[in-house]
Amino acid sequence: MTAGRRLLVRDLAQLATPAGAGAPLRGPSLGKVDLVKDAYVLIEAGRITAVGRMRDLPALGDDVQELDGRGLCAVPGLVDCHTHPAFGGDRVEEFSVRAAGASYEELHAAGGGILSTVRATREAGEEGIARAVERHRGWMLRQGTTTWEGKSGYGLDRETELASLRAVAAAGGAPTWLGAHAVPPEFEDADAYLDFALAEVLPEAARIAEAADVFLERGAFDAGQARHYLTACRDAGLALRLHGDQFTEAGAIPLALELGARSVDHLEATGSDGARALAAADVTAVLLPASALFLNRPMPPARALVDAGAAIALATDFNPGSAFCESLPLVCGLAATQLGLAPAEALAACTVNAAHVLGRAEEVGRTAPGYAADIVLLDAPDWRYLAYHLGGDLVHTVLVRGDPTRLR
Ligand code: NIG
Ligand code: FE
Repeated sequence: MTAGRRLLVRDLAQLATPAGAGAPLRGPSLGKVDLVKDAYVLIEAGRITAVGRMRDLPALGDDVQELDGRGLCAVPGLVDCHTHPAFGGDRVEEFSVRAAGASYEELHAAGGGILSTVRATREAGEEGIARAVERHRGWMLRQGTTTWEGKSGYGLDRETELASLRAVAAAGGAPTWLGAHAVPPEFEDADAYLDFALAEVLPEAARIAEAADVFLERGAFDAGQARHYLTACRDAGLALRLHGDQFTEAGAIPLALELGARSVDHLEATGSDGARALAAADVTAVLLPASALFLNRPMPPARALVDAGAAIALATDFNPGSAFCESLPLVCGLAATQLGLAPAEALAACTVNAAHVLGRAEEVGRTAPGYAADIVLLDAPDWRYLAYHLGGDLVHTVLVRGDPTRLR
């Protein structure tokens, strides 16, 4: 959109945005949506300047472009706060073996899983990684994702980790250094690998990344190793994230609280003590139901977390092994059918609360005056089709900073 020009999205069937101000939303506030029927949105220089009912639309003069919203519903651009888009190759072979009964953890222990993607990513090189991230970013956009985080973690050597972070930054994502994802084969053990990563990779990674992440799990890194890694990353100025309680409760939640992490993600194995511990904490629980579904694992205790007062977000976990899925609308459908969340709770969890995890909640996550004009127009008569139309092709147009891309 040309700077200074105004764009009017008019005659929308509905406009829905998480209610209130500030973030994260918790408890009953998570489920409150501001709904405007027969709505317009006015955009100027990439920002939303007004939202209202068509019958209240003021006279705008003639330097206004118009976009016809008839039959469409507007929601905020979706925010995917947990993805792994920087990888080479695929895991379709492993997927087929798993489909026939092998378990994800067994394949990982046998040197497949994450480490097979590490081999393919190293082979892809800087250009191949950049192309892959760009391609994956395009997939996300077509599903309505306008703000996204992207992790490294499939390089695990200096060159490939830094190339992954640069690729995410160049494609417009928020880069997270997942330097502690697995122990690469050239190191004897996790401690030796972490010594290398913290001495040789962290100084440059901290210049590109916004956050650091660790896979705290049996067969990956234990709580002591995760503390060592995250403390060094925090001292280097990075925000902290953890993959925790995916298969076992190995101390991720207490560590996240101790270190003041932004989030602890997965939580499929979290019990009632974990949910209670997160209740009043300033650590967001990032739930990844597509990953639980893809691995045929139990779903995370979303309802218990929300009812206890914990801040939750929803994300895809897009990656080649445990969640080859970039669709936040599908995740909203899973939230409503598998996690016991209302569509309104799901919407807030993948907009305003996800933006909070990325430190961007003042900029994106609401369709309201002052926010960036990142907006998804759904081909639906009711915005709740976002969760209701399971696996549906409902993203009609995506606006990024007021710039519309028509997708169907
Ligand atoms: O979030 N659990 C660790 N990391 C990713 C999966 C990575 C992979 O299987 O390639 C996850 O599920
Ligand atoms: Fe992940």
